[in-house]
Amino acid sequence: MKTIGLIGAGNIGSQLARLAVAKGYDVVISNSRGPETISDLVKELGPKARAATTTEAAQAGDIVVVTIPLKNYHQVPVAPLAGKIVIDTNNYYPERDGQIRELDNESTTTSELLQAHLPNSKVVKAFNHLYAADLTKDGQPKGSKNRRAVAIAGNDQSSKQTVSQLIDEFGFDTVDLGPLKESWRIQRDTPGYGPHRTADELRKDLTTAKRPAA
Ligand SMILES: NC(=O)c1ccc[n+]([C@@H]2O[C@H](COP(=O)([O-])OP(=O)(O)OC[C@H]3O[C@@H](n4cnc5c(N)ncnc54)[C@H](OP(=O)(O)O)[C@@H]3O)[C@@H](O)[C@H]2O)c1
Repeated sequence: MKTIGLIGAGNIGSQLARLAVAKGYDVVISNSRGPETISDLVKELGPKARAATTTEAAQAGDIVVVTIPLKNYHQVPVAPLAGKIVIDTNNYYPERDGQIRELDNESTTTSELLQAHLPNSKVVKAFNHLYAADLTKDGQPKGSKNRRAVAIAGNDQSSKQTVSQLIDEFGFDTVDLGPLKESWRIQRDTPGYGPHRTADELRKDLTTAKRPAA
């Protein structure tokens, strides 16, 4: 695994790109307005990064991160992501995304929506509960006291292992909360969403999480 594709170059996309480049990955990053609008970021990231269209980023990445406003998930290119691990950082904010009925009635989760859009990809939820600034601030080497943990969810075990290794390289422990249908346990307004948590603390938060309509 050498190249990380990023669909989204905002708060989270740019931070994950910084972490990836710092760990020696090549980065291909895209946004909705076109590669020329990411030139400052790419300059900052240096020679291991390049700007591209979303289709090119999807094609180039061994792993691809989708980190865009949820309302646009159906614009993510499907064919170039087939067979790939897709990391999903997205959250549902109706004030930004509009009302999404299946989320309001809790019949699905944000990650399951993306997985349904990308039926041949292996979607892994990750990084959705950390503030963007924390990503480059809170990482620590494995075994550090109070090392921060990132919750992941996904339907494919080996993809989760690969993403856990990446998260470890980025400086964080991982807590696997199960299949994508369980990913609501780390959605907005749950106890684990936002604060610094070790793996043990995060496991407790995931257990006590409640869905608003429940
Ligand atoms: N901010 C945080 O601290 C935080 C933390 C955890 C999770 N999240 C979640 O992660 C996602 C990204 O958040 P963010 O704060 O990074 O958002 P952001 O700063 O608003 O950036 C969004 C990025 O997505 C791009 N984009 C939008 N539609 C696109 C499309 N159809 N194809 C390709 N790129 C597209 C935007 O490009 P243009 O600018 O060209 O439109 C922009 O680069 C959201 O779902 C958010 O809720 C955010």
